[in-house]
Amino acid sequence: MLVTSRHLAEYRAFLDLTDADLGGRVLDCSAGASGFAAAVNAGGGTVTAVDPAYADLDALRAAVEGSLSGGAALIDAHADRFTWDWYGSPEGRQALRDEAREAFLADLAAHPGTYVPGGLPALPFADDAFDLAVCSHLLFTWADDTFDEAWHHAALTDLLRVAREVRVFPLVLQGAGEPVPFLPRLLDRFRAEGRTAEVRRVPYEFQRGADEMLVLGR
Ligand SMILES: C[S@@+](CC[C@H](N)C(=O)[O-])C[C@H]1O[C@@H](n2cnc3c(N)ncnc32)[C@H](O)[C@@H]1O
Repeated sequence: MLVTSRHLAEYRAFLDLTDADLGGRVLDCSAGASGFAAAVNAGGGTVTAVDPAYADLDALRAAVEGSLSGGAALIDAHADRFTWDWYGSPEGRQALRDEAREAFLADLAAHPGTYVPGGLPALPFADDAFDLAVCSHLLFTWADDTFDEAWHHAALTDLLRVAREVRVFPLVLQGAGEPVPFLPRLLDRFRAEGRTAEVRRVPYEFQRGADEMLVLGR
């Protein structure tokens, strides 16, 4: 799996985040080398980032460098499945990634307490520690035999334990952007458990058809 560096501007768009959303206690789960926490906290916000990769920072820095070429290869291999309307150009996308990666690395050095080692489905946080948890490009994106339907249910249930609202983007598989076969069943299961589960359109599209997020609530 790649350890990527998405930018605050990308998070704002694909999770449809407003200033009010960013004003509370926010968890970026599977944050990787994203510049989200660094940028929001620099503006006075309260974002915590969690990722198992924070347990070994030397390996993380190497993975961040490796993900640059890995991400480009993935897009090249499925070029017809991507649209550049939001980014404008590959260079525009790369510039965002470079800025986010530099912001992440600087903030990791300056505020290491923001970056907590840990992972789904057992996050190292108390119940109700956050108002909002966001998850970008782990859940659904990397669904496979390990991250299967039962794992996703456990992971999202743990996110709802620590935060009263959970937003997840995207809802398709990485690469070709195929739909996730178990997503409708999972939504029904959460609703049957008394949760709110809504698929909401967002003002962002890169993988064609991947323009929706999941919003879960208690
Ligand atoms: C593709 S990256 C996404 C990073 C960031 N959210 C972004 O959009 O740029 C996926 C991240 O998921 C993390 N990850 C892997 N297993 C995880 C788990 N069980 N719980 C939380 N994060 C996990 C990886 O370490 C990696 O940093």
